Amino acid sequence: MLNPIVCLQDVSLVRNHQTILKGISWTIRKGQHWAVIGSNGAGKTSLLKIIAGYLWPSKGEVTVLGKRYGSYDLRELRKMIGWVSDELMEDIYPSQQVVNTVISGKYASIGLWEIPQRDEYKQATRLLEKMRISHLAQRPFGGLSQGEKKRVIIARALMAKPVLLVLDEPFSGLDLGAREEFLFDLERVCPLATLVLVTHHVEEIAPLFSHVLLLKEGQVLAQGEKGKILTDDLLSHTFGFSIHVRRRFGRYWPIIDYSTKSSQE
Ligand SMILES: Nc1ncnc2c1ncn2[C@@H]1O[C@H](COP(=O)(O)OP(=O)(O)OP(=O)(O)O)[C@@H](O)[C@H]1O
Ligand SMILES: [Mg+2]
Repeated sequence: MLNPIVCLQDVSLVRNHQTILKGISWTIRKGQHWAVIGSNGAGKTSLLKIIAGYLWPSKGEVTVLGKRYGSYDLRELRKMIGWVSDELMEDIYPSQQVVNTVISGKYASIGLWEIPQRDEYKQATRLLEKMRISHLAQRPFGGLSQGEKKRVIIARALMAKPVLLVLDEPFSGLDLGAREEFLFDLERVCPLATLVLVTHHVEEIAPLFSHVLLLKEGQVLAQGEKGKILTDDLLSHTFGFSIHVRRRFGRYWPIIDYSTKSSQE
């Protein structure tokens, strides 16, 4: 069988004497797209940072794209992994021209240290068109709206033609229309990448996502095929509220019953 895209075995992360992740085993195979759900502080971002090579686990084995961490140059690996998060957005120089921000994704760097080549300009321009923001190419990144910035950093992540695209709450700060447009676009803009999406909102798990991992207090509560994981019981347990899930249009819509706080807490 082909190497999995991601394979974590018994991974734990301890920082400042606090256990952030504990005993995580998780395999992502080609053809799967995963959503990661969990409440604030559950460890979602930390988990993604381990996968993308920005955090080193305290224990356990991490193999991404067939390369075992510890025996491979992570800088090279990072170029194959697209990373989209608010944290990254804050690091981008406000004065940087949008087209250069996109090109910097090819080098997995924040700034752009080389004069871009003509073909890089062309590729970045195509990606901006794909993301429907080509009119912003010459603007400074800092002056854009939240939704526009999100589109730029997704184009940036796609510049390196990633095999794995990690999206940490990509829809936060977007209005409903922009979010839906985005969800609709996701498959079209990166047809070849394996996707890992972190979200707080179950309804954002678009039909293309096949699997879900539920994280609670640094541990895997459940993982597997989406339909088996997005159940009333498991979601209620994850968030500590009584949640009913309705399935419609290939998506899952949570309805929260405030009258009965979950007994499973
Ligand atoms: N360097 C660190 N030192 C100590 N604690 C940390 C460190 N980094 C993260 N944490 C803690 O680890 C826990 C998990 O953080 P993480 O950012 O992974 O959560 P999250 O699930 O992404 O949360 P959110 O939904 O709010 O983004 C939090 O309690 C956080 O305070
Ligand atoms: Mg987070």
